[in-house]
Amino acid sequence: MAERKIVKITGDVPGPKSRQLYSEMEQNVPRGAAHMTPIAISSAKGATITDVDGNTYIDFASGIGVLNVGHRPDEIVKVIKEQADKYLHACFHVTFYESYIRLANKLNTITPGQFPKKTILLNSGAEAVENAIKIAKYHTKRYGILSFLEGFHGRTAAAMSLTGQIQPYKYNFGPPIPWIYHLPFAYCYRCPFGQTYPGCELACAKYVEQVFGSVISPDAIAALIVEPVQGEGGFIVPPKEFLPELYQICKAKGIIFIDDEVQTGIARTGKLFAIEHSSIEPDLITTAKSVGGGMVLSAVTGKAEIMDAPHVGGLGGTYAGHPLSCEAALVALDLVEKKNLIARANAIGDKVKQAFYAMQERYPIIGDVRGLGAMVAIELVKDRKTKEPARQESALVRQKCYQNGLIALGAGIHHNVVRTLMPLVITDEELEEGLSILDEALKSTPIQ
Ligand SMILES: Cc1ncc(COP(=O)(O)O)c(C=O)c1O
Repeated sequence: MAERKIVKITGDVPGPKSRQLYSEMEQNVPRGAAHMTPIAISSAKGATITDVDGNTYIDFASGIGVLNVGHRPDEIVKVIKEQADKYLHACFHVTFYESYIRLANKLNTITPGQFPKKTILLNSGAEAVENAIKIAKYHTKRYGILSFLEGFHGRTAAAMSLTGQIQPYKYNFGPPIPWIYHLPFAYCYRCPFGQTYPGCELACAKYVEQVFGSVISPDAIAALIVEPVQGEGGFIVPPKEFLPELYQICKAKGIIFIDDEVQTGIARTGKLFAIEHSSIEPDLITTAKSVGGGMVLSAVTGKAEIMDAPHVGGLGGTYAGHPLSCEAALVALDLVEKKNLIARANAIGDKVKQAFYAMQERYPIIGDVRGLGAMVAIELVKDRKTKEPARQESALVRQKCYQNGLIALGAGIHHNVVRTLMPLVITDEELEEGLSILDEALKSTPIQ
């Protein structure tokens, strides 16, 4: 094992205190709330996490893409403390406050689209998605929604219905909300039409015409919601023509284009928003996760005339746009700029991809390397020809990682993807050490 400079593992992982807490958790918390490691956190800073047993890990997860500006930046902790000294909660619908308005203005300014915009703040990604759908339906007076196979939009009723993955998100939770139609995504490694790009001529994007002809008329469709890079689906980056083609179809048919940037947003893909890799100006954009710099916050930003469609009182929520979260978000967005995190995301992504391509030469289990900016993943297969998903092996790789000091996440419809969502403030030394732990974990898999 290579020498570790950052990671500190003092004994077996999980340690005794994590194990004790785990057993208390099993007694008190339903199993439905999954956990990807059996490790209980005690503190964190930058790109490292320390657990209750004193072990220190490198973080390639960022609490699932929430900490692009890192764990606990001093600037964010400071404004949260200052705000806590003034008031904790007011409810924007009772007495409004400046930070909400400043943040709405900031999001209206930094999101793509040369038109007047408005922003409503909410709490979770799923809640942003729910609201975007409500707004689109209200504006168009149409009720159909198009979403994508393998897509993920959250666990609440509409968001779950839009999601294109059965396990674990939809199984046994009853009928989805009506009038949702799933389209094939451009998952080129496993093309749903068995074709190869570019010879396929984007059969996946064109499939929507068949839906319009046989399933639902386009004039009954309110919106299309899409992740510019599928996150939970396994970091699937579509060919560059895919999203523009869908966008043109939406424009031609009066369908609202909703860009779900909950996981891809705030510099992760090497642009502030992943949709900026294409020339699209989405009608509505959902953000969450890293927009709050570690605090609970989400938003829907979009064309003012669409956002203004619902009547007074039709949107919102008691905690939506919490004052502590607004303060944190304003600083988080500043930090992205001040710390040059867009450029850093590209540098991290290049380094990770290079390392993954080198590992792919050595380890046949790596079927595919893909990603955009610092959103890079490997898809593990039992055999490169059959592409049989290596699901258990992928779980084992992630287990070896955390036992050796790296928190890494899985993803993918077949649960065989290892994805990297490290804080963008990670140092080169931390990044290299993290990658070497992942390399050793891959080396130890039985598929060689
Ligand atoms: C693209 C996307 N949309 C929506 C969500 C739901 O966000 P939340 O878990 O905050 O409800 C997620 C969460 O991973 C996501 O990746």
